[in-house]
Amino acid sequence: MRTKRDMEKVRLTGAKGTLLYTLYFRALDSRSPRPILGDEWAPRILDRLDHNHLKVKMAAGDRYVGILRARRLDDWTGRYLAENPGATVLQLGCGLDSRAFRMDLPPGVEWIDLDYPEVIDLRSRLYPERDHYRMIPSSVTDPSWLEQVPTGRPVLVIAEGLLMYLTDPDVRQLLVRLAGRVPHGELAFDAISPWLAAVSRAFGWKLASIGDPREPERWAERLTLLECVPVLSDLQLIPAPHYRAAYGLLTRTARIRNAMRLFRFRVGDA
Ligand SMILES: C[S@@+](CC[C@H](N)C(=O)[O-])C[C@H]1O[C@@H](n2cnc3c(N)ncnc32)[C@H](O)[C@@H]1O
Repeated sequence: MRTKRDMEKVRLTGAKGTLLYTLYFRALDSRSPRPILGDEWAPRILDRLDHNHLKVKMAAGDRYVGILRARRLDDWTGRYLAENPGATVLQLGCGLDSRAFRMDLPPGVEWIDLDYPEVIDLRSRLYPERDHYRMIPSSVTDPSWLEQVPTGRPVLVIAEGLLMYLTDPDVRQLLVRLAGRVPHGELAFDAISPWLAAVSRAFGWKLASIGDPREPERWAERLTLLECVPVLSDLQLIPAPHYRAAYGLLTRTARIRNAMRLFRFRVGDA
């Protein structure tokens, strides 16, 4: 039996603390009879954390938003790596996500996970070391880490649950910088809509958003929109009928359906 002494104390605040929610959602999914994502790392990592989990448990009803988002990103990652087995994957705002470990990666893939130093410090005590895998402790808004991204191979950049915690100008600057550094590849990320960002202000959050999905193309001409889908798209995957029906009802309204979307951009010269 695990005692508090064997556990990692987690006292993360603000955006850093949100990594517990997504981890908890994945653990719930993994322990369910019909997992959507099947992340076997999540419950093991969660069990090693000593945190104030009351608020996290209260958010359990939102789990499918996080799980469907993660599932779609796993699918996009798998597809990209099948076509580009020698690629680098750069995951920004990785939190305690296990994508690099739960996915069956082609042997040539190099994987880089980036998050704040405090998060990377915790992460490095929870995940094993592995060949072709490294972490960068940095804020994503600090431009210097970009120099560590190799330029001689295709790059898939993933940012899951990250961009809303930046400012609007920081989102723009990040995408422009990535477009300038990545020789060719793809960017896959989620973003909330401007109306949801406005609503969140009432709850004390200042979240960034993306309105027109083609806006990033105007920020950097090396970006081309390939896909934009609501996070709440693959509702047929939800095993619980009452949640499936509730989300089905909610997403009949376009505004709500498009409140959280996943974007896939090609990076490269036209
Ligand atoms: C909702 S969590 C998502 C974590 C992970 N992607 C997942 O899906 O479980 C948001 C993550 O973004 C990270 N984050 C927020 N702002 C950041 C910044 N400026 N630089 C680096 N990481 C950041 C937080 O530390 C946190 O790990």
